[in-house]
Amino acid sequence: MNKNNLTRRQFIAAASAGSLAAAASRTIPAYANPSNKAGKPAILGGQPVRTKGWPSWPVWDRDAEESILSVLRSGNWYRGRGTKVSEFEKKYAKLMGAKRCLATASGTTALLVALHILGVDAGDEVLVAPYTFIATYNVVFLTKALPVFVDTDQETFTMNPDKIEERINERTKAILPVHILGLPADMDRINAIAKKHNLLVIEDACQAWLAEYRNKKCGTLGDLGCFSFQNSKNIPAGEGGAIIGNDEELMDRCYSFHNCGRPYGSVKRTSGYPVRGSNRRMQEFQAVILMSQMKRIQKDADTRLLNALYLTSRIKDIPGIIPYKLADGATRSAYHLYPFRYKKEHFSNVPRNRFLAALRAEGIPCSGGYGPQNKDGLVEDALNSEGFKRLYSSRRLKRYREENHCPDNDQLCKEAVWFSQSMLLGTKRDMETIADAILKLYENRDKLA
Ligand SMILES: Cc1ncc(COP(=O)(O)O)c(C=O)c1O
Repeated sequence: MNKNNLTRRQFIAAASAGSLAAAASRTIPAYANPSNKAGKPAILGGQPVRTKGWPSWPVWDRDAEESILSVLRSGNWYRGRGTKVSEFEKKYAKLMGAKRCLATASGTTALLVALHILGVDAGDEVLVAPYTFIATYNVVFLTKALPVFVDTDQETFTMNPDKIEERINERTKAILPVHILGLPADMDRINAIAKKHNLLVIEDACQAWLAEYRNKKCGTLGDLGCFSFQNSKNIPAGEGGAIIGNDEELMDRCYSFHNCGRPYGSVKRTSGYPVRGSNRRMQEFQAVILMSQMKRIQKDADTRLLNALYLTSRIKDIPGIIPYKLADGATRSAYHLYPFRYKKEHFSNVPRNRFLAALRAEGIPCSGGYGPQNKDGLVEDALNSEGFKRLYSSRRLKRYREENHCPDNDQLCKEAVWFSQSMLLGTKRDMETIADAILKLYENRDKLA
């Protein structure tokens, strides 16, 4: 085991310290730094809490440079002539505890392949989480199926299992939960509902490498799990994606589809190409970058986890700051982002955007995250298309529009605050500067209002 890895015992100790602390009463922390309390917010002309930069992303080493050069010089840049993509697939499957992995061009293409192979087709309905990146439901529209949004649990930022069954009808084919920001969705309850109604489960784990639910890796809990390796991701390759699964026949079909429908494994040659397909292949260059990134993934994940738990312990008692909670059964987040909810009523009604701007002025990069995506223009764009009008009755589309409300998600979109994964690669002291800055803004809330 890598000496930098945490032992399971250390994890449990760290995690339970966090949860014990979370149970403590919400009083203003005793460690408040008096100089910060007295200081004028930087947005009002005061000194920022922090002037130092943050860890940059992505990072790479000389090994990565050499392996890219060796692929370049080999002239074997595509998987059909190289060995690197297959090598990566074996390593990634092992890391995830899955039987098989198929590398793809992106996370979006991984989702498209998974939906097609699981038989999601024109006229079907798929239950999706609205608190996500647009790709999660764009792929459903592109499959000519209807993404039906299930409201979000504000505490866990993930699909609320209590809201799933009311959205199921005879056309519902699958549930597409998202382990968003790296936070595992409540997979026991989602899988139980899927089983009861005979639905498929496709996990969007595009932000959840090494996240765990009941100590099993996210992406291995449903029928197929999809990942992204885009530039900002915790395992980046510029672009890239993967599907993982345990069903050999299903994975053979994924392979065949991603490779223009050529025969593969149990997908036997008939006359010419046996099945429909598309080109969703990963390049050899992407695979060597990913293999070099995989050398640091566990160590980085452990650093993010410890820093996130420490940050939570430092900010959870500041009134109006509510850190994320793990869903029941979730044992580890991937921390692609660190989220909390900002309750402006505890901050003299300072609007969230003003709070975000003030935090940035203190030297703490942050974002307000996703908007209410179930209301994005692309939903109407799809519903008004000729294809959708042919596939779904006007009655169904009318009801869809009437029911497309996710009030808890709307609220979350107004209150969320995110820090990026690379900030969590900093030091304990870096986490303290985040907490100091938030506390400073709390102490000065009347001036910011
Ligand atoms: C939750 C989620 N799903 C899907 C995707 C799509 O992945 P990609 O950008 O690799 O196509 C992303 C990427 O940001 C994502 O965050």
